[in-house]
Amino acid sequence: MDINKIRKDFPMLNNNKTMQGHPFSYFDNAATTLKPKCVIDKICEYYEFYSVNSHRGDYDLAQRVDDEILKARDNVCKLINADEKEVIFTSGATMGLNQIAQGLKRFLSKDDEILITDAEHASNVLPWFRIASEIGCKVNYIPLENGRITIRNIEKVISSKTKIVSIAHVTNVLGYVNDIKEIAKFVHGYNAYFVCDGAQSVPHFKVDVKDLDVDFLVFSGHKMCGPTGIGVMYGKYELLKEIDSLLLGGGMNTEFDLCGNFGYLKTPFKFEAGTQNIAGIIGLGKAIEYLNEIGMDNIEKYERELKEYAVTKLLNEVPEVIIYNKDSEAGIIDFNYEGVHAQDMGTLLGSYGICVRTGEHCAKLLHNEIGTNSTVRASLYFYNTKEEIDRFVEVCKKGRDFLDVFFA
Ligand code: ALA
Repeated sequence: MDINKIRKDFPMLNNNKTMQGHPFSYFDNAATTLKPKCVIDKICEYYEFYSVNSHRGDYDLAQRVDDEILKARDNVCKLINADEKEVIFTSGATMGLNQIAQGLKRFLSKDDEILITDAEHASNVLPWFRIASEIGCKVNYIPLENGRITIRNIEKVISSKTKIVSIAHVTNVLGYVNDIKEIAKFVHGYNAYFVCDGAQSVPHFKVDVKDLDVDFLVFSGHKMCGPTGIGVMYGKYELLKEIDSLLLGGGMNTEFDLCGNFGYLKTPFKFEAGTQNIAGIIGLGKAIEYLNEIGMDNIEKYERELKEYAVTKLLNEVPEVIIYNKDSEAGIIDFNYEGVHAQDMGTLLGSYGICVRTGEHCAKLLHNEIGTNSTVRASLYFYNTKEEIDRFVEVCKKGRDFLDVFFA
């Protein structure tokens, strides 16, 4: 991987001074990633040259848009090894999880159970509670073992009442990579549906839905160099045929009558009501091409190296730092500086041009595991460098001086 060449692809990495005059280091990639010029150009190309609606017109420009969407869907299919009819565009992972929960509702009865963990993002907690309260069933938690899901612990809570298990492939705060293949197989042994939140996995390593044998997978475009407001819901065709679409409107029905009776179009269109986020779809398609050029295996390997480098350096050079996920695989470092509030640490780092996220990171149940509800999260991507980490560690050493930022 030629990191210098890669960094040139990102306009924001080349406007390299922040307001405070420090170089810009972006370590908030679990929240959203920067966009390469080719993605920005592709979005502009749509708006400048063929910004007409999709699946509706018979003129040449409409055909062009349909072709671009087809190409983007094909890029997604190849990325995750899915078939075209199994890939649905959504506004992001959140919408995908809400659609899946509402869709699976029809298979649930009173007293059934849904299993999640307390490390899940809000979008993989709240939609399940909503359907549980509608049906009168329960949401239970798989206990974690040092941040990880183990079969032994799933065994403690799973039963014939369990109908759905929904977990993150990679947790968004601690960055543990769950063994989805093993877990899906075990869950299917109980005839339960298995839903995987891939928001923090698909951008960082190869994910193959057929090999993992997940029933559903969701992810977001903006966490993988694509635009905001676009994501993907993968579902096994047999299940997509069975469940209802959350959104109804134009573009998803075969016909409807005066009483509101209607027929569904085939998937994926059944789930894609209304004018789609066309620029988003086309931008995501381009982002996937860009990631493929770098190579998902290269991205995974490089990020693991960076994470290890950062953890070792922090542990060796900043004894006041408490790291909550030293042994997790993903490029996420979740930490605090002894005696300094996470937000103060975030402000200090920000004043040196280093962007991190602080607080609960949308996983508001995780404090049960780590004993604190506010941490600093530095999350890396393939365009980050060891030099940036060196600078980050130097600023972390100034943790106690955070008040200087406020009274400078
Ligand atoms: N889900 C995003 C995060 O983890 C916003 O920060």
